[in-house]
Amino acid sequence: MKTQPLVNTPLEVSRIAYGCMQIGGSWDRSLMTDQTKRDALAAIRTALDLGINFFDHADIYCRGKSEEVFALIWQESPGLREKIVLQTKCGIRFPGDPDESAPLRYDFSYDHISHSVEGSLRRLKTDYLDLLLLHRPDALVEPEEVARAFDALHQSGKVRFFGVSNHTAAQIALLQKYLKQPLVANQLELNLLHTHLLDEGIAANQDRPAWSIRGEGTLEYCRLHDITLQAWAPLAGGAVVGNFAEKPTEAATKVAALVADLAREKNVSREAIAIAWLLRHPARIQPIVGTTRPDRIQAACEGDAVELTREEWYCLFIAGRGDRLP
Ligand SMILES: NC(=O)c1ccc[n+]([C@@H]2O[C@H](COP(=O)([O-])OP(=O)(O)OC[C@H]3O[C@@H](n4cnc5c(N)ncnc54)[C@H](OP(=O)(O)O)[C@@H]3O)[C@@H](O)[C@H]2O)c1
Repeated sequence: MKTQPLVNTPLEVSRIAYGCMQIGGSWDRSLMTDQTKRDALAAIRTALDLGINFFDHADIYCRGKSEEVFALIWQESPGLREKIVLQTKCGIRFPGDPDESAPLRYDFSYDHISHSVEGSLRRLKTDYLDLLLLHRPDALVEPEEVARAFDALHQSGKVRFFGVSNHTAAQIALLQKYLKQPLVANQLELNLLHTHLLDEGIAANQDRPAWSIRGEGTLEYCRLHDITLQAWAPLAGGAVVGNFAEKPTEAATKVAALVADLAREKNVSREAIAIAWLLRHPARIQPIVGTTRPDRIQAACEGDAVELTREEWYCLFIAGRGDRLP
């Protein structure tokens, strides 16, 4: 697995990261079964064996069980902690927390950020996080308070670096105005069937309704400020390789067929083609692969060795966006 620098940090990270969202087994309050623990360890081991050194979490994943089960890896691999990059997120609060009337909401208050990190450190059984991301933009964000929380976490050695997720360029700029630490990552949904970030740059200043997306250049902003783009749902839950959870759209059918053709032509897995499409972008996008199945993790990681031509990349892009280019 090739690596790349995580700019504005001394960290060297695998081009592909492993997303731990589902390794806790279920999102309800039930306890983890022994089978869930065995499956989680098998997925983590597979990722490590394939050269992945970057693991993505969030405090909410499987209600904390994903972080908790991840910590089992320390028992079988002492010394691993310093060799990997652990990222988690905070800022989403479940309905019913702390009382029944509370809705799902976002919370970037000093107290919530601090409290969330303490919980993640406890569950992950570690003294520090390499990266902490703010999960989804909080409409009531007070950047001064975020800055206070980040300062305390940084000074205490509990968090080394910071970033955001699902944030626009303007939201990042607003936060950065108050933060001492640079925001080094922005994690966003990006895959062959979810191309808004790329469409913004193509569709600006066009009349045709489908082309008149008003973006604010989030992708370009991140490139300009050395903020690594992490792509969540890189396989669109399997849809880009033809595993459809529901009746596929025309674009999904076309993408899956094109991905299958290219995979046959290059003698690689279909997952590899979908991942290679993200890696081909010069912004050095880091896909966060989330399948829990070792064979699928391996298939996705094959994408590291696949080179797509400009023509192949554009054929896939056009199929995915579901419309010709201007
Ligand atoms: N920042 C955010 O807001 C946000 C949101 C969502 C996710 N994330 C992060 O991104 C990571 C990846 O997200 P994701 O799980 O939605 O990504 P994904 O890699 O696009 O999809 C993986 C899901 O698709 C299923 N799947 C079906 N066929 C598949 C195939 N052939 N290959 C691969 N997967 C297939 C997997 O099930 P099996 O496990 O059975 O293979 C799994 O549930 C998460 O783990 C999390 O770390 C972040």
